[in-house]
This record gives sequence, structure tokens and C-alpha cells, in this order.
Amino acid sequence: MANQWRGVLREYADRLDITEKTPIITLGEGGTPLIRAAALEARTGAKVWVKFEGMNPTGSFKDRGMTMAVSKAVEHGAKAVICASTGNTSASAAAYATHAGITAAVLVPEGKIAMGKLAQAIAHGAELLQVQGNFDDCLDIARDLAANYPVHLVNSVNPDRIEGQKTAAFEVVEVLEDAPDFHIVPVGNAGNYTAYFRGYSEELARGESTKLPRMFGFQAEGSAPIVLGHVVKSPETIASAIRIGNPASWKLATAARETSDGYFGAISDAKILEAHRILSSEVGIFVEPASAISVAGLLERSDAGIIPKGATVVLTVTGHGLKDPQWALRTPDGSDIKPTIVPADTTEIADVLGLRSV
Ligand code: F0G
Repeated sequence: MANQWRGVLREYADRLDITEKTPIITLGEGGTPLIRAAALEARTGAKVWVKFEGMNPTGSFKDRGMTMAVSKAVEHGAKAVICASTGNTSASAAAYATHAGITAAVLVPEGKIAMGKLAQAIAHGAELLQVQGNFDDCLDIARDLAANYPVHLVNSVNPDRIEGQKTAAFEVVEVLEDAPDFHIVPVGNAGNYTAYFRGYSEELARGESTKLPRMFGFQAEGSAPIVLGHVVKSPETIASAIRIGNPASWKLATAARETSDGYFGAISDAKILEAHRILSSEVGIFVEPASAISVAGLLERSDAGIIPKGATVVLTVTGHGLKDPQWALRTPDGSDIKPTIVPADTTEIADVLGLRSV
């Protein structure tokens, strides 16, 4: 059989806490493309690369941490995993649990997760409960259940998740042959911010890179507890994946920001949607709104004069646009985009397209 990418646990076995006893539960996650974005370079003068994590098996970066968390859970004899989620973690937990032959129970905020993600968890056979509360309520309950019942928690408060997710930084360093000057990520629980920082720190310690990137993280304006410095009781944003008021990895992320001379900023929903359109219509990458905040953050920091011309910047876009496609079908002023209807007639279609016969 020809070789194929073997998933992050096998590819990085020497840098993760796994042994021969660890069952490798993989769907081939990781090995995602790092894409040069000329349109963003033209706008900023920086060298801009996009790490497209929507290319993972369930369409988000969560798969990197989930392969690790579910493999370790099975190694420790777990028969069921549980998580709270704004959608992507639940989709990923459901897929990896079912692949392992165990059960996933997922708690999501009622009416607040994208349809694609809800469909994924249900398709993979998860016990999905819509909780009448927000994500932060769901996480409190998931932690309670894991502490008092025989279910294994696979949220990013489980250290195995962040361990798996750090592999994305390894891949960036392999491609660029050094760390970038800046790395920008969306921030919800701040687990991924923490994971990239750890991955880059390990690469520096191994001598594979010469520097740590400055880690820049962005939260939506209505859900920006780290930027504000206090818990947000009723977080709001159209970027439902990062609608989080009390981030689980807050302390770790603050430490990472200090060490990396990093930054946390807040972006309005309007700017998120503008960046979403730039990425899809000028670069050719379709993401969900939360992911577009990386692009919005780059543009905001560039306008503020913080990103020098020629600096290397990596943006992580965390989830695929197909999970939450409705945003592509609206104009900036919020009206619906309706594709033109035409008769099945070549001449009429050529006319509508403005084509002249040759
Ligand atoms: N982007 C997407 C698409 C996400 O789904 C998440 C988190 C983040 C960014 C933020 O990452 O939490 O590590 O700072 N989604 C979680 C979930 C909360 O339940 O799917 P973070």
C-alpha cells in the first residue's frame, strides 16, 4: 500500500505522550495546507500564510486534540466521553468516539450552534442535548458530570486536547523552516492559542526554529472577556463558535501572551463578516465566521501599524465555511442574495452572462 498521511499521533509520536499501549484512534487529521494569500499581502505588505484547519476530517482544528483525547480515554478504559460545545468540539468528539466504538454525550447551547455542526454530531450518533443556557453553563455541567459519573471529559480543560492541537505549530515550522514573526488565531476558550504557543515553544527548544512568534488572539467584541479583563455573563456574537464568556484556558493564554510579547484584541461582528467576504472572494478560502476573525485581526493590526512590511504572518482559520454557510448568502447590509433564475436556453444564458458569440 502506498504511503498516506497517518494522522498527528503517528506523525508526531515522538513528541506526544503515547506508548505502544495507546490505541491510535485516528481519522487522518492534521497535515492541513498552509496557503499563501496574495490578496492579504497586497493589503498589508506582510508575507501572509493561511493555515486552513477546515481541511481536517470533521472540518475543524478540534480533530487534532480529539484524536489524542479519545485515544487516551480509550487507553484508560473509558466507555463514554462528554463535552460542552459551541458545535465543533461536539462534531469532532462524536466522530472520534464512534470511530473508537464508544459513546459521546454532547451539551450544546440551545439554538446557538450552526446547523452543519448539529447535523454532524447527530449523524455520528452522539447523545446530543440542547441545554437552556450558554456555552459556559454547558461546560460547568460537563465538568460536574465528569467529576461525579463514569464519563471522560474531552473539552480542552483535558490536557490531552491541547497536546494534540500543538501539532499545528509543528506543521507550520516544517513548511516555513522557521516560526513566523506573528501567529494570529481566533479565541474562545483560548485553548488553541495556548496550544500553538506550546508547539512553537517546543520547536524553539528543539532548535527547529530561531524565535517564538508574537501570538495575537482575537475575540468578538460582544464576547471578549480576556480583552475586557472580566467574565462576560451574556456573551453575544454572530461568530457562534467563539461565543464564550469565561474561557477555560484564560490563565495559560495570559502567560503565553506575556512570554510571546503577544496581544488580545476585540473585533466587531461587522468586521468579522467583512473579513469573511475578503477571504472567500479574494483568496478562495471558505471559513465559518469565527475563523474569519483571524483575517480581521490581521487587517486591524496592520492598519494600526503593528505589522511591519515584509513580516511573516500565519493566520489560523479554524473551521470550514460549509458548517455555517448562511453568511455567504447575505450582502453587507444584511439582505439575502438570490441567484438569478434563467430558462434552460444557451442564447438567453449567454445574454445574461454578457457573452458575445465568437
Ligand atoms: N474557531 C472555531 C471554529 C471554534 O470552533 C473554536 C472553539 C475556536 C475558534 C476557539 O478556539 O476555544 O481553543 O479558543 N470552539 C469550541 C467548540 C468552543 O465547542 O467547538 P479555543
